[in-house]
Amino acid sequence: MMRSKLVAGNWKMHGSLAGNLSLLTAVRQGASDVGAEVAVCVPFPYLEQARSVLSGSKVGWGAQDVSQHAQGAYTGEVSAAMLVDFGCRYVIVGHSERRSYHGESDELVAAKTEAALAAGLTPIVCVGETLEEREANVTDAVVTRQLDAVLARVGAVGMARAVIAYEPVWAIGTGRTATPLQAQEVHALIRARIAQSDATVAAGVCILYGGSMKPNNAAELMSQPDIDGGLIGGASLLAADFLAIAAAG
Ligand code: 13P
Repeated sequence: MMRSKLVAGNWKMHGSLAGNLSLLTAVRQGASDVGAEVAVCVPFPYLEQARSVLSGSKVGWGAQDVSQHAQGAYTGEVSAAMLVDFGCRYVIVGHSERRSYHGESDELVAAKTEAALAAGLTPIVCVGETLEEREANVTDAVVTRQLDAVLARVGAVGMARAVIAYEPVWAIGTGRTATPLQAQEVHALIRARIAQSDATVAAGVCILYGGSMKPNNAAELMSQPDIDGGLIGGASLLAADFLAIAAAG
């Protein structure tokens, strides 16, 4: 099956109104002749700015987290419906920085995925092992456990409307990229695991790689059979680099 490529930026906690304007404008212009789908996931306060600059372009936008709750007394939280109000198409859930710094469990990530789907968003569900886990040869077990929690909650039907991002924690922000073969192995594992629930869904699901993806390694990573694009951190803050990666998709 031909899957379309997606290149999504994760700005993390970076940006300012002034700086974002030039970055978003450049991405909007440069993405128009790119074949891959392109999106940026910005901090909550800048969603309105993303909407204002990117509306009517091919670039989608989204947030980096969402509450598992629909509404209520949850100070500081943001619901999926609120993200829809701001025109979001995507939301990242279960990023390793949320799992490790905010104690997000597999079950919470699954609940957030379900909340995003219920509101009509496309969740970008992050999975990935730490360096210790890779060195202990438990990468497959960790990724399978993280994925299974989501599958158990939303089923193959939900998975069909989600994007998975494999982000080995040791490759995030370190300049140490997984080799194309290392990444491909885990991507194939993810697809095979989903295929145990539904082979058609597995064949169609978009699986991104994230972790020090740069213009000089993007093409080789994204040419792997099960790598359908990238989730880009640092390089998404530089329009030229982000667009070069998108063009390689
Ligand atoms: P870097 O591209 O900066 O390694 O970040 C990857 C990431 O965490 C994207 O979500």
